[in-house]
Amino acid sequence: MAVTEQPAPENPEGDEQPIKQRKNGLYPAVSDELAANMTSGWADTELRDLQPVPQAAETARRRAELSARFPGERLVIPAGNLLTRSNDTEYPFRAATEYVYLTGDQTHDGVLVLEPAGEQGHTATVYLLPRSDRGNGEFWLDGRDGELWVGRRHSLTEAERLLGLPAADVRELPDALRAGTGPVRVVRGHDAGIEAALDGLADAGRDEELRVFISEQRLVKDAFEIGELQKAVDSTVRGFEDVVKVLDKAEATSERYIEGTFFLRARVEGNDVGYGSICAAGPHATTLHWVRNDGPVRSGDLLLLDAGVETHTLYTADVTRTLPISGTYTELQRKIYDAVYEAQEAGIAAVRPGAKYRDFHDAAQLVLATKLVEWGLVEGPVERVLELGLQRRWTLHGTGHMLGLDVHDCAVARTETYVDGVLEPGMVLTVEPGLYFQADDLSVPEEYRGIGVRIEDDILVTEDGNRNLSAALPRTSTDIEAWMAALKG
Ligand code: GLY
Ligand code: MN
Ligand code: MN
Repeated sequence: MAVTEQPAPENPEGDEQPIKQRKNGLYPAVSDELAANMTSGWADTELRDLQPVPQAAETARRRAELSARFPGERLVIPAGNLLTRSNDTEYPFRAATEYVYLTGDQTHDGVLVLEPAGEQGHTATVYLLPRSDRGNGEFWLDGRDGELWVGRRHSLTEAERLLGLPAADVRELPDALRAGTGPVRVVRGHDAGIEAALDGLADAGRDEELRVFISEQRLVKDAFEIGELQKAVDSTVRGFEDVVKVLDKAEATSERYIEGTFFLRARVEGNDVGYGSICAAGPHATTLHWVRNDGPVRSGDLLLLDAGVETHTLYTADVTRTLPISGTYTELQRKIYDAVYEAQEAGIAAVRPGAKYRDFHDAAQLVLATKLVEWGLVEGPVERVLELGLQRRWTLHGTGHMLGLDVHDCAVARTETYVDGVLEPGMVLTVEPGLYFQADDLSVPEEYRGIGVRIEDDILVTEDGNRNLSAALPRTSTDIEAWMAALKG
């Protein structure tokens, strides 16, 4: 883009807001002397000794699988664009899972294209914004993409070394796509500009098949992914310990103190939290997705903390513990907690290769329904309760889901490969039964109302059973109390 001749706008605040954004995309006029001055005097900072990202071999294998599934078709997998939060500020960017899985890259506006290449299958190219041009002013005048404003990017040559595949200028991609011939599929929902360039060429139904295939590719994790998930869980364990240590400060403020404490760990050790932390004290624990986190934290109540660190490579943990804020469960809290623990134990025991995916859910529900009948909250026999699903008034949700780059991973996998499928070594799933008695539930005795308990662990299916990746966090009520006592000192 060229420097325009338009007069520079008034800048009464004298702040450092990039002028471009006040000017509808036009650069301000600057003196010829300054423009000339800014084009030179910059060091060569090209990084020449970059090593490939650690998952480069895995991303290449995944692209080869994709190529084999869609021979002769052009495949377009965008990273997605920045989203406006307000005016000229954006949300933190999180690249689309499909793009990350197939490239190892996380750059906004990036696009992976697999171009049919005859007998060779496909040629993969990643399209990225190159480094800012120092000669035309974009480096220092473009407030959205200029490196002076947003930081240094990798050159296309650096990106090629890092990702192990050719890189090209993304600004040339829309025209190239429009000019293309032959069948094309795009992963929709991430980049409206790319979809517009493919308008009339791609077909929503065929595109969905591409998305489904990538979702199913991710069902079984490779060794790199399992290592990353373990890192995510390990950071999450430390985040839970951080929270226990500051419960007194949360009592003096609110659930936000818990959210902020966990977030600090997530940002320092990882990329972010993998989903909005649920920091639910007292009756908020009965709201499944309580992420407002603005309530009081009271001794004597329970804290349901459901949180997960997302690693720098974007794999997330998903762990829940329900803790007595005082450090000790009341008799009724313990009774409910121990029932959920028993259900979780039954669920975890049902996770092994060859088992049906539904088995762990059924095993956990059987325990919970049995307890609810025993406690006189629902009329038996247990078989009738399960058949009619009557326990669900208090169990509310499924007992788990696949875990990986997305917290609810592989979400568009077909029913026959996921919920009606069979467990295989390398799958990672949560086992997370719960019991929730709403504060206004008149069908249960008053003392139950406002109690919610969930226990959630991240379980890897192994060759001969399973491994609990989050076993470093205690799970039994007595172990939790001892752990909290030790941390609180
Ligand atoms: N944290 C969301 C879930 O447990 O599924
Ligand atoms: Mn979960
Ligand atoms: Mn969770």
